[in-house]
Parts: sequence; C-alpha cells; structure tokens
Amino acid sequence: MLKSVYVWEFPVRLTHWLNVLSIVMLSVTGIYIGAPFIHALYTTEYIMGTMRFLHFTFAYVFTVSLALRLYWIFKGNNFSDWRAFNPFVKGRAKLMIEHCKFYMCITNKPPKDWLGHTASASFAYLGLTVLYLFMIASGFALYYSAQPNVSALLLGGWLGNVFSISTLRLWHHLVMWFILTFVIVHVYLGWLLDRHEKNGIMSSIFSGYKIGE
Ligand code: HEM
Ligand code: HEM
Repeated sequence: MLKSVYVWEFPVRLTHWLNVLSIVMLSVTGIYIGAPFIHALYTTEYIMGTMRFLHFTFAYVFTVSLALRLYWIFKGNNFSDWRAFNPFVKGRAKLMIEHCKFYMCITNKPPKDWLGHTASASFAYLGLTVLYLFMIASGFALYYSAQPNVSALLLGGWLGNVFSISTLRLWHHLVMWFILTFVIVHVYLGWLLDRHEKNGIMSSIFSGYKIGE
C-alpha cells in the first residue's frame, strides 16, 4: 500500500536551498575574485569590492546554514539525523555497491533502498560535508590574513599557521570545482532515480514528502 511519507523536515529543506543559493553566489563571485572577468569603465564602479562583499555575505549565510544542519543532525527525524549518514550500518555498503552498478549501467534497476537518502547518497553527503568544512576553514583563513579578528581566527584563521596562504587559496579554488562536479552528478542521479523509482524524490526536496510504503 503506497502512501505519502514526510521525510525532509523544514530545516533540512531550508538548509538545502540556502546552501544551493550560497554555493551559486560564492562560486560566481569567487571565480570573479580569482580572475576578474568584468572590467570597470569608470573609477566610480566598484566591481571587485561588490564581488568581495557578496562573497563574504554568502560565506556567512553558508556557515550559519551548515551550523543549523549540523545541529539538526541531533534533532531531526530518522531520515535526517546522524544515523542516516552512518556508512557502517549493516547492509549499507552492499547497497551502495548495488547503486553504483546501476549508475554505471551494469544493472538496469536500482536496488530496493529505504525512503531516506540512498546508501550511496548518504556516503556522498558525508564527503561533501568535509568539503564544506574545508571551504569555511580555508575561506576564513584567507579572510583572517587580510582582516584579523577573533571570529575569523576561530572559524579557520588558525589554518594559516599550518599551510601557506597561497596553498590555501589554491585549494579553496580547486575544491570549488569538486563541489560543482558533485552538483552536476547529484542533479543527474536524482533525476535518474526519480524516473526509475517513481517515488517523488525530486519534488521531495521542495515539499518534504516522498511516496513509499
Ligand atoms: C562553497 C563555498 C565557497 C566557494 C565555492 C568559494 C570560492 C572562492 C573562489 C573561487 C575564490 C577565488 C580564489 C582564487 O582563485 O584566488 C575565493 C576567494 C576567497 N574566498 Fe571563497 N568560496 C567559498 C566559501 C568561502 C567562505 C565560507 C569564506 C569565508 C569567509 C570565503 C572567503 C574567501 C576569501 C577571503 C577569498 C579571497 C578574497 C580575496 O583575496 O580578495 N570563501 N572563494
Ligand atoms: C549547489 C547545488 C546542490 C547541492 C550542493 C546539493 C546538496 C545536497 C545535499 C547535501 C543533500 C542532503 C540533504 C540533507 O540531508 O541535509 C541533498 C538532497 C537532495 N537534493 Fe540537493 N543539492 C544541490 C542542488 C539540488 C538541485 C538543483 C536539486 C533538484 C531540484 C536537488 C535535489 C535534491 C534532492 C531531491 C535531495 C533529497 C534526496 C536525496 O537524498 O538525494 N539538489 N542535496
């Protein structure tokens, strides 16, 4: 008997879309900071200043959004709390291999998984969270090198004592491309699973509901 199940609570959806907006804004402004592609015609146009202002504004939005999601890892329902991301749960590794076989067209049907994140998705989200934390720490290390203050020091400024600023800047840029690669694969696999499983996975990140038993 199929029914509508409320899987993604409001904080999960809110932080998902805040992260999407932040990543788009941080990537566009970050690419501009690294290689300015618009040139000012008049000295009154303050394009780099505006881009940096936007970068830092969305850096804070992104940091707060991640902090809220990490808090929700202890408060959320069983589809979104820490257990949903535990790769050591019995049977999850096997399911992940089955999913990968489907994604690589070795099998023609995805394995039967639960209604929460698929085994491979939850593993990918764990890795993505590590990348998020690195972007925040390296970003605040870069920020601290120009604007030293206590909050920037705590959020990542200390990394400047471990790695050189140029190394951090290079990795801050490179990891952006890893995240953007994840986004393309993520949206494609979501669409693919939606077509095969017909459980409303794509609309679930807007409405919160999936179709299942
Ligand atoms: C997913 C998140 C983020 C992305 C995709 C991103 C992307 C970028 C890129 C591509 C650059 C240019 C690097 C270069 O080629 O020189 C940059 C610079 C920078 N980012 Fe981020 N960033 C992110 C998050 C953050 C965060 C959370 C902070 C924290 C404050 C931050 C602070 C900075 C700073 C300070 C710079 C150097 C600005 C300058 O030198 O004028 N970024 N970012
Ligand atoms: C910057 C772009 C994006 C990033 C970084 C991203 C990342 C993520 C993450 C980390 C989750 C897990 C949510 C959680 O448990 O907190 C998730 C879930 C989800 N995302 Fe995205 N997402 C992006 C864009 C999109 C877009 C454009 C769509 C399609 C409309 C989408 C569809 C979904 C769906 C359906 C889920 C829930 C199902 C699942 O477990 O995979 N995402 N996404």
